[in-house]
Amino acid sequence: MPNTVVVGAQWGDEAKGKVVDCLAQTARMVVRYGGGSNAGHTVTAGGETFKFHLIPCGILYPDVVCVIADGVVIDPAVLTEEIAGLHARGRTSDNLHISANAHVIMPYHRILDRLSEESKGDSALGTTGRGVGPAYADKSSRIGIRVHELIDPNRLASRLREQVADKNRIIQHVYGGEPLDADAVVSEIQAYAEVLKPYVRDTVSLVGKAARNGGGVVFEGAQGTLLDIDLGTYPYVTSSHPIAGGACIGTGAGPTSITDVIGVAKSYTTRVGAGIFPTELLDEIGDGIRERGHEYGTTTGRPRRCGWLDAVVLRYAALVNGLTRLSVGHLDVLSGLETVKIAVGYQLADGYTEDLPVDLPNRTDLVAVYEELAGWDEDLTGVTEAEGLPANCMAYIRRIEELTDVKIGSVSVGPAREQMILLS
Ligand code: IMP
Repeated sequence: MPNTVVVGAQWGDEAKGKVVDCLAQTARMVVRYGGGSNAGHTVTAGGETFKFHLIPCGILYPDVVCVIADGVVIDPAVLTEEIAGLHARGRTSDNLHISANAHVIMPYHRILDRLSEESKGDSALGTTGRGVGPAYADKSSRIGIRVHELIDPNRLASRLREQVADKNRIIQHVYGGEPLDADAVVSEIQAYAEVLKPYVRDTVSLVGKAARNGGGVVFEGAQGTLLDIDLGTYPYVTSSHPIAGGACIGTGAGPTSITDVIGVAKSYTTRVGAGIFPTELLDEIGDGIRERGHEYGTTTGRPRRCGWLDAVVLRYAALVNGLTRLSVGHLDVLSGLETVKIAVGYQLADGYTEDLPVDLPNRTDLVAVYEELAGWDEDLTGVTEAEGLPANCMAYIRRIEELTDVKIGSVSVGPAREQMILLS
């Protein structure tokens, strides 16, 4: 069976959860490899809608082994709440496994995330405020607390006391904030640890062996290619590796075990937070896309910035992720537009390019160059097979394939499982 990475091909929020959910039906294992509770994945199944921040989408299939792997930063408050939420709706969490090596987001990480953003004023990054950046910073500084320490009560207390003292110095003396009470933090986190302990194990061998022996592993990406800490639009990025390579870094599965990389994209582009967005629509077309596409953050509720599809971004995603297929969603949202546009290149002061400029975030001279295609009026939400798609919609799909040189394996016309159409 293949080992498939599902990766966001844009700036996140591409509805990867739905693609993972479809693949999970025939998978053995679904593995979340990076990010934290900054992510929000929505899955609609059997008329019920589930929103996950940390738990892999495959959890709704009790026979699928679900793993939160090493590369994820886990907020124990969020994870225990998600587990309780599953139980409250009669779903099992017995198929969930948490890496002993994953790092833990502590209350001070959330506080530092907020204080750091506030102190930046107009140049704030627009983070989700979930403590993700500060937790990864501790990991890189080699002072982070990992899950195996979380579930060891003696070690947890001493590590937390040392870290709270350290962070209080920054909270008070750098930002003028209120210090945390170490005892209160220890008892809060210990309570979460009790709940999470039964799920903790060595997931490196679990995932690595599954990927090598028989396959059937789906690696669930969070965020998107252009939010990658190294290959994204730095500094307006997240602090992890959303790209396909992150699936290896964050789990222990070797690169040669990956057989398929699906890039998930919307039929247009969205972005939340600050940073350059070459095809942004600051007009009624953008507003219409936002309303029809319900483009408000799953995690923060923030309105998303909306714009035309950007083939430069998709080509870049194809390159750095080694995409074998694309899955294009939200096609129904574009219905009713007289014409639809795709950015095919960028005009810069020093010339025209069809490649993503390395200094993209700093480019003030960039003008997107568009190709305009005929739109379609038909409501697509009830279409179940490719033959039912309007000719202009199909022409749009085929043009994306030509511009990216990647085959589109599926499109979706709504949030439900049944609204995914396979293409040949
Ligand atoms: P952080 O990951 O919360 O530190 O936020 C850093 C940047 O990544 C901000 O621009 C966020 O809006 C963006 N970001 C983080 N997670 C997501 C996501 O799941 N979808 C879309 N954008 C995200």
